[in-house]
Amino acid sequence: MVLKLIAGSPSWMLRQVFKNADDRLLTKALGMDFRNPIGLAAGFDKNATIFQNLADWGFGFAELGTITPLPQSGNPKPRLFRDVERQCLFNRMGFNNDGAQIVARRIEAKRHKLPKNFRLGVNIGKNAKTEIQNAAEDYRKGAEVFLELCDYLVLNVSSPNTPALRFLQTRDEILKIVEVVLNQRIRKSLSCPILIKFAPEFRGEELKQSLSALESLGVDGFVISNTRAGTHRDLAGGWSGGCLSEISREALIELKSQTGLPAISVGGIMTSEEGCRRFNLGADLIQIYSGWVFKGPGFPFEIVKALRTMNVHKSQEGV
Ligand SMILES: Cc1cc2nc3c(=O)[nH]c(=O)nc-3n(C[C@H](O)[C@H](O)[C@H](O)COP(=O)(O)O)c2cc1C
Repeated sequence: MVLKLIAGSPSWMLRQVFKNADDRLLTKALGMDFRNPIGLAAGFDKNATIFQNLADWGFGFAELGTITPLPQSGNPKPRLFRDVERQCLFNRMGFNNDGAQIVARRIEAKRHKLPKNFRLGVNIGKNAKTEIQNAAEDYRKGAEVFLELCDYLVLNVSSPNTPALRFLQTRDEILKIVEVVLNQRIRKSLSCPILIKFAPEFRGEELKQSLSALESLGVDGFVISNTRAGTHRDLAGGWSGGCLSEISREALIELKSQTGLPAISVGGIMTSEEGCRRFNLGADLIQIYSGWVFKGPGFPFEIVKALRTMNVHKSQEGV
């Protein structure tokens, strides 16, 4: 992808391109300060190769991953498609990543270069070869490696591209996973917030049951939502961008009606107005992926500017 190539451009070059753009909008969320409340969603920097440059592009935080304990190549290509007319992406990547050990070394090597209050989330998952009944052990391994390297940890149980993964969203299954991850956090005496990423279709009674159990157990928040499961050219995968806006927004509304815990809203934020709207609906932070691809590199700055003008989120002065 062209955007991925230029995302690795040197800082001095980007500062020239965006020299009048101001990315500061200090935001308190998840018990810490964020440079601004707009993040790059998981799946773009899966292997921690460009995160050190993302503040120069106007982001206030980035979510790396999804990372699995062992490296894996993901689904065969082609696995990413664009629907330019509807501004949607369709992907069936399947957690292609370099594995926890290699990605952890990259984060360790570069995170000290991050600007003040630029936050780093890490999103973890299970290997495709791990049997679904042994999934908790993969999340435990991911937590063991990343809890002390990130500002928040996301348990991804909602990708449509790993068989049976979404089954892990249900109450009894998610509790098994969260319990081992929380134990890992206690053992390490850390306070890193732990969030769960849900699918936009996971709703109603099932969502309600999971939310109340997770809240009792001590989870810190949610990422809502992942892609919407579907098909394209007879291939199964997930839709994002324009075709996800409505269902992702509705999923946020439903989630916020049932929990007071923090939520990161992601899915179909393709305009700065939609970004503002998510804060009005209760989001603490927002993330973009498809919007950055279709709207261009200046999109995060555009949202920051709109938020500042509309004064819709819980910001503080300065950085
Ligand atoms: C190519 C691609 C790869 C993705 N990979 C991941 C992933 O590894 N883990 C994850 O939690 N979400 C992944 N996502 C989902 C995004 O993080 C996000 O939830 C989704 O794209 C909706 O946001 P958007 O409409 O702004 O793109 C991926 C999305 C795309 C388009």
